[in-house]
Amino acid sequence: MTAVSDSTDRDQPSTVLPAFPPGFRWGVATSAYQIEGGADADGRGPSIWDTFCRVPGAVANGDTGDRACDHYHRWAQDLDLLTELGVDAYRFSISWPRVLPEGLGRVEQRGLDFYRRLADGLRERGIEPFATLYHWDLPQALQDAGGWPERDTAARFVDYALTVQQALGDLVHHWTTFNEPYCTSIVGYAEGRHAPGAREGHGALAAAHHLMLAHGTAVRAMREQGRAEHRFGIVLNQSPAVPVSADPADVAAARRMDCLLRRQFTDPLFGGAYPEDFTETFGAITDASFRQDGDLEIIGTPLDYLGINYYYRLHVADAPHRQPDPALRSANDIGVDTSWRPDVPLSGMGWPVEPEGLTDTLTDLAARYPGLPPIYLTENGGVFPEHRNADGVIADPDRIAFLDGHLRAAHRAVESGVDVRGYFCWSLLDNFEWAHGYKHRFGLVHVDYDTLERTPRASFAWYRDAVAAQRG
Ligand code: NOJ
Repeated sequence: MTAVSDSTDRDQPSTVLPAFPPGFRWGVATSAYQIEGGADADGRGPSIWDTFCRVPGAVANGDTGDRACDHYHRWAQDLDLLTELGVDAYRFSISWPRVLPEGLGRVEQRGLDFYRRLADGLRERGIEPFATLYHWDLPQALQDAGGWPERDTAARFVDYALTVQQALGDLVHHWTTFNEPYCTSIVGYAEGRHAPGAREGHGALAAAHHLMLAHGTAVRAMREQGRAEHRFGIVLNQSPAVPVSADPADVAAARRMDCLLRRQFTDPLFGGAYPEDFTETFGAITDASFRQDGDLEIIGTPLDYLGINYYYRLHVADAPHRQPDPALRSANDIGVDTSWRPDVPLSGMGWPVEPEGLTDTLTDLAARYPGLPPIYLTENGGVFPEHRNADGVIADPDRIAFLDGHLRAAHRAVESGVDVRGYFCWSLLDNFEWAHGYKHRFGLVHVDYDTLERTPRASFAWYRDAVAAQRG
């Protein structure tokens, strides 16, 4: 590993950001399948991503998470990077098929031991573990039994959550049930761009419902274990849908998109109701027969925090030629076209860089749901061009500008009264970017996938200095 000297690019933003509230947590985020590798280590079972990666054409370049960053074996070195970075929180995920290789029943102690070593290592370094129980790697055996469109999968998740809480509860106090249920359900079961690669509109909306049911049931069950220090939350991706014009048709299209992307989750979680326009938006796709009496109360179980992943916003136009398709093969098959604003720069993912969308996301949520729990920004980051300086430093000035802009945007929301408690940059390391494979690099730390050498980028030094400046 190469240590980073002070970043020297003169045109980079100052590391002195406006002061965030006392106790604000500064962290970075990763997820199990994206960094761990060790696919066959210590009795791990297959997940839907192991299977999906082997479907020809599903993942760019035929990449898989078999080795990824080999974090499973290099975790101690990676925790030292966190110390060097000076963060006081680390968001990671636990791999269900490492703990329960068949998804249920037999517990693999060696899998749990790995996460005990990790959480213990974090505590030793004074870093608070924020564990996510599900970051997309469903055990394949449960997919074979129907996966998330099946209600029973929610019950299996609760058993898994309790197993992990019991094993790690002395070390881990922050528990996130799900990461981005939108992606698991709509991208995985309707668009088929993510595992398991299904294309079923009704099944995808059923999956979304069962994910939230699993979430609420698990939070209740875990809370009943009587550990007063434990905190429970969920992480949602929030891409605001902005109409391209004031034309009522475009406004209605943006509202449909917002129902699909955000309100089908946030209304039941924080508003005590299903979206009033659910049937209008999805009536051609589903009869919502997956809902049962009492589900709404469970889904609305009060939370200790809400995690927000923010990357970009969408600009939405009415598209009568894309009327509701029962298969929902694309998120746009609810009569919408999505586009970017032409005047906004795009990141290497092709996503527009619009920090003001983060301020709006936060203020809108707080206004829409009185009693919203405190918010953590659980992911934010990007893919940008870079070059090696003469002194060997990997300079990534656009990433620094991105982080600076979004932190300032978050601060504006804090100033207007939104209760934001922390920020986690995505990501600590370059990693397996799902269907894009290893092509797109989000890391503060560069990973050479041949040698697995870690090299912190200039943005690593910038973030380290920005965090240190907050502590004074
Ligand atoms: C959100 C997901 O949670 C994460 O796994 C992914 O790598 C980032 N977005 C970037 O696309």
